[in-house]
Amino acid sequence: MVLVESSLRIKTGISGLDPLIQGGLQQGDFVLLVGGIGTGKTIFSCQFVYNAAKLYNEHAVYATFEEDINSLKTNMLQFGMDLGSLEKEGKIKLMDLEALEGGGMGANVETLLGALDDVKGKRLVVDSLTAFLSGAQEKFDYSFLMHLIYKTLKREGITTLMTVSTPQGSNGLGVEEFIADGLFQLESYVNEHMELKTRFIIRKLRGTEHSRKYHNIAFAPNGIEIYKW
Ligand SMILES: Nc1ncnc2c1ncn2[C@@H]1O[C@H](COP(=O)(O)OP(=O)(O)OP(=O)(O)O)[C@@H](O)[C@H]1O
Ligand SMILES: [Mg+2]
Repeated sequence: MVLVESSLRIKTGISGLDPLIQGGLQQGDFVLLVGGIGTGKTIFSCQFVYNAAKLYNEHAVYATFEEDINSLKTNMLQFGMDLGSLEKEGKIKLMDLEALEGGGMGANVETLLGALDDVKGKRLVVDSLTAFLSGAQEKFDYSFLMHLIYKTLKREGITTLMTVSTPQGSNGLGVEEFIADGLFQLESYVNEHMELKTRFIIRKLRGTEHSRKYHNIAFAPNGIEIYKW
């Protein structure tokens, strides 16, 4: 299949990814990055924010519920991503959020929108949506909140990537996966040499002719690289 690339696309800059999705995402896309433990969700999502600010001059917000900001910065330096200096330059905002209960969830949404406003951000990462929504008590809250987040970000033209942690062997199909415009998946598997490997597949991306193959990935010196095969 030959994928036609478009110059109007929002480039991720993640090595090997853009050619698989017609050159990038569409502005306002809401994409979930689903994967089991240690499959590279955090590294991938940091690359999305880092590349935005560093390569494409698009400001971004990175909100984590999972890791301490200082350890995140130190870990990402190993992949050549200096998040701290981009933060000092006012190009990105790193936020450490807590999964709050009940009304606190709406407050978190407000906090995110405020932060996007502060840095004039056009891209948002939430790592992870699983933790973010863990404060939702009822199924109704959860679904309502998901629709609200989706509509608000879409209206503002914010291109969003949220990670979702899935237990081994689960596809984790929740309401968020039906709402999202895109579903990217990272999966661990054991190859014939008994090595633990990770592969990547695009399950869906609305409005885009995308690869439907599994692609091997590597944790390379500059972060995750996605291979053709
Ligand atoms: N410096 C490094 N060089 C190569 N690979 C690394 C390096 N640091 C981490 N890794 C790999 O990256 C994995 C962690 O990536 P990451 O934190 O992005 O995964 P994750 O999916 O977010 O995990 P979690 O489920 O814990 O949130 C490690 O398990 C390891 O395999
Ligand atoms: Mg993580």
